[in-house]
Amino acid sequence: MRRKLGKTGTAVHPIGFGAMALSILGRPSEADAIRTLHAAFDAGIDFIDTADSYCLETADTGHNERLIQKALAQKPGAAQRIRVATKGGVIRPGGAWLTDARPRRLRQACDASLRNLGVERIFLYQLHAVDEEIPYEESVGELVRLREEGKIEHIGVCNVGMDELDVALSVAGDIESVQNRCNPFEQHDLSSGLIRRCEELRISYIAYAPVGGHRGNRRLPGTEPFASLSAKYGVSAYRIALAWLLSRGPNILPIPGARRAESVQDNALAPTLPLEAADAIRIDRLGGLGLKTA
Ligand SMILES: NC(=O)c1ccc[n+]([C@@H]2O[C@H](COP(=O)([O-])OP(=O)(O)OC[C@H]3O[C@@H](n4cnc5c(N)ncnc54)[C@H](OP(=O)(O)O)[C@@H]3O)[C@@H](O)[C@H]2O)c1
Repeated sequence: MRRKLGKTGTAVHPIGFGAMALSILGRPSEADAIRTLHAAFDAGIDFIDTADSYCLETADTGHNERLIQKALAQKPGAAQRIRVATKGGVIRPGGAWLTDARPRRLRQACDASLRNLGVERIFLYQLHAVDEEIPYEESVGELVRLREEGKIEHIGVCNVGMDELDVALSVAGDIESVQNRCNPFEQHDLSSGLIRRCEELRISYIAYAPVGGHRGNRRLPGTEPFASLSAKYGVSAYRIALAWLLSRGPNILPIPGARRAESVQDNALAPTLPLEAADAIRIDRLGGLGLKTA
């Protein structure tokens, strides 16, 4: 199964890779992080999600972007094949996660991301969060200017509902992707119709924390129906969760995160799992439980 990212027609592996855990608290050594990124490249994954804020604190801003650039540079041909999507609009003073999506600050962040990634144009630049301090259209408006100037190719938005998506569309005309939290325990965007709306508009839906997020992922293997489906199919609960997400919309691109190469290799095989419709429905039912996972 091949997915297309939004309207670009760029064929991507149905599973992307979220690189956040390689740069935040508890991150692996640089050598191990690069080994994990190379495992993703070797498994055929060609969409990597990052952000300037994937780092320890302000002085470390851009750590994840520089790491990805380094990993790409070490693999001949990788930089040409692999799409890197980054984000701006979140800052890390003292290690906290705060929103700052003022236009001037987004422009500075984008310029720094261009340098960190070593590119002349960013494939997909995503507004990381809604900044309650300023009108959403002002943040999106700056991304439109960055696109007009050729610094970014496509605009994406994150952590949005229908209302913000409507505003973004009215300002930008064209939105490439929506990136929200979606996993078996948190199915709000499936039940609200947001994912379907994105599909109608040919917008990619990038599912973050797709195996439950920081804490939820640990609960996944022991939660029914994952324990019994793991036994039935002879694969990990993570692979089943990802296969389920893929079955829930042709525009869904899950971006599981991992510190270990083994996790990436396992997840990359999810598209080959023939999950039966009745089993997918069993996972749908978890959404009604309203479990909080992060
Ligand atoms: N836009 C936003 O606001 C936002 C917010 C959060 C995250 N994100 C993006 O979403 C990505 C993923 O989110 P996330 O990392 O929070 O949650 P996640 O992908 O749901 O969970 C990642 C965790 O699951 C474990 N895991 C994944 N596959 C596994 C496998 N096959 N076997 C065993 N363990 C497995 C990993 O273990 P190991 O570490 O042991 O490999 C890691 O600890 C991030 O990297 C980031 O790019 C975006």
